[in-house]
Parts: sequence; C-alpha cells; structure tokens
Amino acid sequence: MMIARCARLLLGMLILLLIACGKDPRLDEGLKVFTANCKVCHAQGINGAPIVGNKKMWGPRAAQGHSVLVSHAISGYGLMPARGGNPSLSDEDISNVVLYMLSQLDN
Ligand code: HEC
Repeated sequence: MMIARCARLLLGMLILLLIACGKDPRLDEGLKVFTANCKVCHAQGINGAPIVGNKKMWGPRAAQGHSVLVSHAISGYGLMPARGGNPSLSDEDISNVVLYMLSQLDN
C-alpha cells in the first residue's frame, strides 16, 4: 500500500520534472510525426486547417481539450482526413502530435 503510493508519487514527480525541464520526449516524437504527416496542411492553413502556433485559430479548438482533439484527428473532422491521411499512424502518434500542437500555443 505504502510502497505503491510512494511509487505513484515518485512517478508523478518524474513526469512533472520532465515537463518542467521541457524534455517531454512525446513532444519530440510529436514534432517528427507532425513534420512528416501534418505540416503540409497545418503550416499554412490548407483548406482552413488551424495553423500551428496561431492562438486565434486554435482558441476554440484547443478549448475542447487534448482527448477530443485526438479523437477528431483519428476519425477525421470536416476537411481533415482521418489520421492526416496516413492510416499507419498509431493512436499514440496522433496523441503526441496533438500534444506538440498544443505546446506551440504556450509561448
Ligand atoms: C490534407 C490536409 C490535412 C492534413 C495532412 C492534416 N490535417 Fe489536421 N486539419 C485539416 C483541416 C482542413 C482541419 C480543419 C477541419 C474543420 O474544422 O473542418 C484540421 C483540423 C485538425 C485538428 C482540429 C480538430 C478540431 O477538433 O478542431 C487537429 C487536432 C488536427 N487537424 C490534427 C492533425 C494531425 C495530428 C495531423 C497529422 C497526423 C493532421 N491534422 C494532418 C487538414 C489537415
């Protein structure tokens, strides 16, 4: 009981530390997948795709939260193709890209 609680606490602290140091590996992974699969539309706003880092375009979308955005990106949403048109991307890949996209709104 006690050990499990300590382990959870330690894990939580580790994750916080990683985030605080800006070294969350999921963001690096997300950037790689983004560059290869999503940038073509999300860098310039093709078909109205929200441009990465553009707070105005992302505002109401980001407000839906990470998990809703991920499910829209997985299933497809309006003119956004399912998994950005690459069915070989995993749910985790998509989740990492959305983390990356949201992280670009912080600066
Ligand atoms: C062919 C162009 C295209 C590609 C490639 C693309 N997107 Fe999109 N994306 C769009 C468009 C257009 C929208 C706006 C859809 C709408 O609101 O009708 C969008 C919207 C989104 C949204 C916001 C959904 C919401 O709920 O508002 C997310 C998240 C997203 N894309 C993630 C991704 C990810 C992750 C990838 C790469 C795996 C990707 N997109 C690749 C065109 C693209």
